[in-house]
This record gives sequence, C-alpha cells and structure tokens, in this order.
Amino acid sequence: MRISAGTIKARRLRGGAWGPLMVILFAGTVLAMLYGIYRYPIHHGRTYGHGVRFNQAMFGPRLEQPIAFSHRLHVTDKEIDCYYCHPYGERSLNAGLPSVDKCLGCHEYIIPEHEEILKLKQYREEDELIPWQRVYYNPDHVYFPHFRHLKKNVACTECHGELERADRLHQVTFYMGFCIDCHQEKNASLECTACHQ
Ligand code: HEC
Ligand code: HEC
Ligand code: HEC
Ligand code: HEC
Ligand code: HEC
Repeated sequence: MRISAGTIKARRLRGGAWGPLMVILFAGTVLAMLYGIYRYPIHHGRTYGHGVRFNQAMFGPRLEQPIAFSHRLHVTDKEIDCYYCHPYGERSLNAGLPSVDKCLGCHEYIIPEHEEILKLKQYREEDELIPWQRVYYNPDHVYFPHFRHLKKNVACTECHGELERADRLHQVTFYMGFCIDCHQEKNASLECTACHQ
C-alpha cells in the first residue's frame, strides 16, 4: 500500500507537479535566507539596551523621507565626510542636518535635473526647510550632548551603527540600558542627573 502510494506520488510529481513544488521550495529558501540576514547581528554580543541586539534595533521601521537621500552613496562611494554635512557635534548638543543650500552647493552642477534634486530646488524656491523625519530619538527628559562624546573620540558608529552602508535609515529609539552599558565600560557618569536634568 505504502509503496504504491509512493509510486503514484512520484508519477504525479514527474507529471508536472514539480514546477509549483520547486517554486514553493525556492521561495521558502529565499525567505529563510532573508530572515537570516535580518536577524544576523553584525556586532556579535553587543547589546542595544535591555537585551536588544544592536542591529535588530537598527532595523526598526524604515522612514519615508521627503527626499530619497543615501548615506551609502554619499559617504562610501563619494567619500564625503560626516562632518561636512553634520558639522556641529564637536561643539554643541546637536550634530545638525545639512541645509538645502549645502545640498545644492554640489547639486547645482551634479545631476541637476534628477527628479529628487528638482524637489530640492522646489524647497529652496519656497524658502522651506526640508521636513526630514527624525531617525534617532531620545525622549524629552533625556539630556544628550554630542560634544561630550565626540571630544572623547566615541565614534559615530558606536551609537548610529554603520549607516554608511545604508541607503535608507530605519528608526531607532535609545534605551537607557544602552547608554548605561557604555558609561559603565568607559567610566563615564552614572549619576541620574547627568542624563535626566
Ligand atoms: C552629503 C551629506 C551627508 C553626509 C556626508 C552624511 N550625512 Fe548623515 N544625514 C544627511 C541627511 C540629508 C540626513 C537626513 C535624511 C535621513 O535621515 O536619511 C542625515 C541623517 C543622519 C542621521 C539621522 C538624523 C536623525 O534624524 O536622527 C545620522 C545619525 C547621520 N546622518 C549620521 C551621519 C554619519 C555618522 C555620517 C558619516 C558616516 C553622515 N551622516 C554623513 C546628510 C549627510
Ligand atoms: C554616544 C552616542 C552617540 C555618538 C557617538 C554620536 N551620536 Fe548622533 N545621536 C545620538 C543620540 C542619542 C541622538 C538623538 C538625540 C536626541 O534625541 O536628543 C543622536 C542624534 C543625531 C543626529 C540628529 C539630531 C542632531 O543632533 O542634529 C545627527 C545628525 C547625528 N546624531 C549625527 C552624528 C554624527 C555625525 C556623529 C559622529 C560625528 C554622531 N552623531 C555621534 C547619539 C550619538
Ligand atoms: C559634496 C557634494 C555633494 C553634496 C553636498 C550632496 N551630494 Fe548628493 N550626490 C553627490 C554625487 C557625486 C552624487 C552621484 C551623482 C551621480 O550619480 O552621478 C550624488 C547623488 C545624489 C542623489 C541621486 C541618488 C540616486 O539614487 O541616483 C540624490 C537624490 C542626492 N545626491 C541628494 C542629495 C541631498 C538631499 C543632499 C543634501 C543633504 C546632497 N545630495 C548633498 C554629491 C553631493
Ligand atoms: C559608546 C559609549 C557611550 C554611549 C553609548 C553613550 N555614552 Fe554618554 N558618555 C560616554 C563617555 C566616554 C562620556 C565621558 C565624557 C567625558 O568624560 O567628558 C560620556 C558622557 C556623557 C554625558 C556627560 C556626563 C557628565 O559627566 O556630565 C552625558 C549627559 C551622556 N554621556 C549621556 C548619554 C546618553 C543619554 C546616552 C544614550 C543615549 C549615552 N550617553 C550613550 C560614552 C558613551
Ligand atoms: C547615561 C545616561 C542615563 C543615566 C545615567 C540614567 N538614565 Fe534614565 N534614561 C536614559 C535614557 C536614554 C532614557 C530613555 C530611554 C528609555 O526609556 O529607556 C531613560 C529613561 C529613564 C526613565 C523612564 C523609563 C520609562 O520607561 O519611561 C526613568 C524613570 C529613568 N530613566 C530613571 C533613571 C534613574 C533613577 C537613574 C539613576 C539611577 C537614571 N535614569 C540614569 C538615560 C540615562
């Protein structure tokens, strides 16, 4: 009985059932591989607060930005320095975002008719700021000074991940545990009032 059922199944498979089966198997393998890439933490063992791994936190929801800006293209391919576009972090609380004029300093000449660059020109004409969505986020009750960290040579990557590899950024919320872990490791302040003022 088992043998004949098997034989029938094998015949059916040879007779055309293989196509759909292979498609399902193939799609399954691809999905499994994508899931693997998604879950695989690049910083082995590094946690991003409360046991959340760094790169899992990086993969929060992707933000729809008003202009399709790519860090990978500008930083890795075109070798533009972080400080060229985010110049203030060494001196002040915020690193700062580039203005429309800074983008157009290059893009008046580089791909000036590109669809996304035309949007830039529109913002300039209307004298508006680009309404970038916030990516990295601390609640209001947290005090975070970039300059204290950059003066001690804490690298951007330590807190922002390898965004020079990303075309689009994914939203990240910082957990207190993430700050505390590094402060403990580097003998920085653990006083509640250092971060909650
Ligand atoms: C050519 C200009 C440019 C360069 C170079 C650049 N950035 Fe950016 N960066 C931007 C723009 C524009 C945004 C806002 C759009 C976005 O979030 O993708 C941004 C967003 C960010 C944000 C998220 C800001 C937020 O809302 O929380 C971080 C963090 C950041 N950049 C860090 C870096 C680091 C680190 C480097 C160097 C490895 C770098 N950037 C290089 C233009 C630049
Ligand atoms: C010690 C961790 C840490 C380091 C190092 C760090 N950042 Fe940030 N960054 C943050 C946090 C936290 C926020 C969110 C701040 C908030 O919500 O008040 C942020 C926000 C930003 C923003 C958006 C708001 C703003 O400040 O204008 C930019 C842009 C940015 N960082 C760029 C950089 C760049 C470029 C470097 C390296 C030169 C860097 N950061 C290094 C933790 C860090
Ligand atoms: C220092 C010069 C420089 C600055 C500043 C600069 N870019 Fe670029 N950008 C480039 C170069 C080079 C390219 C690649 C052009 C090409 O493909 O030939 C590029 C490409 C682009 C593209 C096309 C990407 C694609 O997928 O084809 C967009 C969109 C863009 N930049 C947006 C911006 C925005 C927004 C800013 C300001 C935050 C900015 N750029 C600042 C040099 C610059
Ligand atoms: C990768 C390591 C690292 C991470 C992550 C980090 N910090 Fe720090 N932080 C430092 C170091 C190192 C100093 C010491 C600077 C000094 O001694 O001047 C510091 C100093 C500070 C100070 C100044 C403290 C004082 O003495 O007054 C504040 C405030 C602060 N960090 C807030 C934060 C917050 C909030 C976060 C999380 C969003 C955070 N830090 C994440 C390394 C880190
Ligand atoms: C190095 C910076 C840092 C220090 C030191 C620090 N915190 Fe926080 N704290 C944060 C950040 C960042 C958040 C926001 C993220 C979160 O809610 O986890 C936070 C959030 C909180 C919250 C809100 C939690 C919630 O779920 O809304 C409380 C309460 C708090 N901290 C209490 C404390 C107390 C008490 C101390 C001293 C023992 C302390 N913190 C020390 C960075 C710090």
